[in-house]
Amino acid sequence: MKITCAGVGYVGLVTGVCLASKGHEVTFYDVDPQKIDMLKNKQLPIYEEGLQELLDEYFHRMSFTSKPSEAYSSSDVIMIAVGTPEKKDGSANLTYVYSVVSDIAEHVNQDCVVVVKSTVPVGTNEKIERALLQEFQISNTNKPDIMLEVVSNPEFLAQGTAVENTLNPSRIVIGSETEWAKNVIDKVYADFKCPKVYTDRQSAEMIKYASNVFLSVKISFINEIANLCEKMGANVEDVAMGMGLDNRIGNQFLRAGIGYGGSYFPKDTKALHWLSQYQNCELKTVKAAIEVNQTQRFRPMQLLSAVYGELSGLSVAVLGLSFKPGTDDVRESPSHTIIPLLLDENVLVKAWDPIAINNFQKVHPELEHDSNIEYYSSLTDCIKDTDACIILTEWNDVKNLSENEYIKLMHQPVIIDGRNCYPIDRFQSHNVTYLSIGRPQKSVSRSDMYDSI
Ligand code: UGA
Repeated sequence: MKITCAGVGYVGLVTGVCLASKGHEVTFYDVDPQKIDMLKNKQLPIYEEGLQELLDEYFHRMSFTSKPSEAYSSSDVIMIAVGTPEKKDGSANLTYVYSVVSDIAEHVNQDCVVVVKSTVPVGTNEKIERALLQEFQISNTNKPDIMLEVVSNPEFLAQGTAVENTLNPSRIVIGSETEWAKNVIDKVYADFKCPKVYTDRQSAEMIKYASNVFLSVKISFINEIANLCEKMGANVEDVAMGMGLDNRIGNQFLRAGIGYGGSYFPKDTKALHWLSQYQNCELKTVKAAIEVNQTQRFRPMQLLSAVYGELSGLSVAVLGLSFKPGTDDVRESPSHTIIPLLLDENVLVKAWDPIAINNFQKVHPELEHDSNIEYYSSLTDCIKDTDACIILTEWNDVKNLSENEYIKLMHQPVIIDGRNCYPIDRFQSHNVTYLSIGRPQKSVSRSDMYDSI
């Protein structure tokens, strides 16, 4: 089939490349000609494991353009995968989605199913279809009528494992209004072996939000339990394991830490909460999850202050700038909270990340000439002569670092582990202050800590 992906971000690019690997002819469209030029030269504008290999192998089935006329005129299916950023009030900004819809209406020349991959508020697919049909009629008074339908087909890929999630999805959700559109989308996914959920568009839109928001609530719940565990001398990892063995609870997304980041959970929780308020049916659990997540980010600062009191003049390594390992995406990453706070305290910040330094720097042009922040691509150079290491992202490089290296390289071996990267007893027999989240803390007397945190 001929498929166009509008938007070459994580969703559009990964989906399109994976569909090309299944035999479809895929055209990629983006407003940014620089990204399109990179792709034409087989260069990826994002990092995602396994994506480069697929791009190279199935390149012959792909084309790239920043001209709407080339992208939208002759495709069987157009997938909208552009951003829906958060507005100030928490609701979703649909400007990019509607801009694609206008372009499709102007250029489409044949029967076509328009698939909304972007996460949009419940009810939006219907509005998009209305806008598409109206604009099509206005722009094409002389053209014969064609069949156009909008289908909701949310994606469930996670960054870092996006290719694997797309090729082997847990489920495919298809929200459509007619048999014709449902059958077209069925053909797109004919080669995918997983449960398929056929439903109406509103339910498909809600499945997407409810799934992401449920996982966010689960994370905030375990983080609150973690904070209570610390007070009670319990170990949240054992608690999570004991809970997760119950199939009704499940063992995933119960990793305590400094909260969820990325471009989906923070945005989607706020958007669904906004929507619920707008409908006068507030989701109170979601409101609480958002609040918990915002506070949880400050834990490393609280722990560092519990150890040192005064922070001015310390040299601190911040390990991990991306919101999670396996991606260079820094959106809503805890590094944006922690690093400015450390700088405000007059700390020398040594920041390390294997792939996300450039993206972090782009978000913080104000730090360009700040001599109190240094960036490192070598982990050992970064932690050398520091008074503390704060782990914000559980990269394997960090997990594989030996206790001896910390001891040998650091000025003061104080490790604040915001992601519980190490077994709790890892530093037991060493002269290391190791503080993590929701587990019994070592080297700071408990009563001292609780007084100060
Ligand atoms: C998330 C969902 O997992 C995907 O299913 C969904 O398709 C995607 O959003 C989307 O809407 O497009 P993603 O944000 O890439 O994917 O990453 P996750 O692996 O879900 O992690 C999100 C955040 O939660 C990260 O900051 C991670 O560190 C944190 N997390 C995750 C925890 O703090 N604890 C956990 O147990 C799991």
